[in-house]
Amino acid sequence: MKIYITRKLPIEAEQVLKAKGFNVTVFSYDRAITRKEIISGAKNCDALISLVSDPIDRFVIDGLKKVKIIANYAVGYNNIDVAYANSKGIVVTNTPDVLTNSTADLTMSLVMACARRIIESDTFMRNREFSGWKPELLLGMELKGKIFGIVGAGEIGRAVARRAKAFGCKIIYYNRSKKTEFEKELGAKKVSLNKLLETSDIISVNISLSEATYHLLNKSNMNLIKKGSVFVNTARGEVIDETHLIKMIKKKHFLGVGLDVYENEPNIREEFYDITGVVLLPHIGSATVDARKELSVLAAKNVVNVLSGKKPLTPVKLQ
Ligand code: GLV
Repeated sequence: MKIYITRKLPIEAEQVLKAKGFNVTVFSYDRAITRKEIISGAKNCDALISLVSDPIDRFVIDGLKKVKIIANYAVGYNNIDVAYANSKGIVVTNTPDVLTNSTADLTMSLVMACARRIIESDTFMRNREFSGWKPELLLGMELKGKIFGIVGAGEIGRAVARRAKAFGCKIIYYNRSKKTEFEKELGAKKVSLNKLLETSDIISVNISLSEATYHLLNKSNMNLIKKGSVFVNTARGEVIDETHLIKMIKKKHFLGVGLDVYENEPNIREEFYDITGVVLLPHIGSATVDARKELSVLAAKNVVNVLSGKKPLTPVKLQ
């Protein structure tokens, strides 16, 4: 069996596949692969391991004549036309759970960076502006007692909420369905999206991208967000209307904004580089040694299972 991987991954993926006697080819350049390169690399392969940044659309899927499984090395799968792949008999899998803690940790890092103005303080020091302790120097927000709004109460949203609860926040959430266990565990309260935006001191976006959630946060509802709040997105850039977010940042609407994801990655809007009040990270939610190793193993095991006629461990199920 032949497997094609679109970028070098932590070694565990290849180890799992090679232990089964599979023949593994890895795209050999340290840059994003193009659609044509995916096809030419994978057209004679039985499985494809793809990244969140690889566009696996109809054009690519039509070129993957022999592929039985596309194993995405990510929890999100908005880069793949899953319905079309399934219609061609191709199984699509993702890597849920193994990156939940890493992504939730990063979300809280952004929350804290914004709430305590960490980047601004670092810049202040490097600019040699520190002339001594001052009662009102770089005042931020304490988390205890604040309302923490989670947009999307999936695994990652809930892991973020657990962390926020430990800081003493009150949890509210917006989600399509009610999460009874989550409510019991954390005393979280389900509210409408508008209510969440109006009342939260801290907002964390943790919802997956789909047609239904594209620009879920837009000009009309984002204007409801409390002035002086913290706003963090570690889900997908396209969930938010970035043009409007930038306008709000420029008007100093927030205490701080933290972003790990952007619309149209990797083409980040130029304006982001020039404005202050926003912490920018390069899509590193799952970027820990621990998580990436587990992602590698899970993606590879999904391939092994499907190519041995077994059920995949984590198939993508379209709603
Ligand atoms: C990363 O963004 C992922 O979906 O795993």
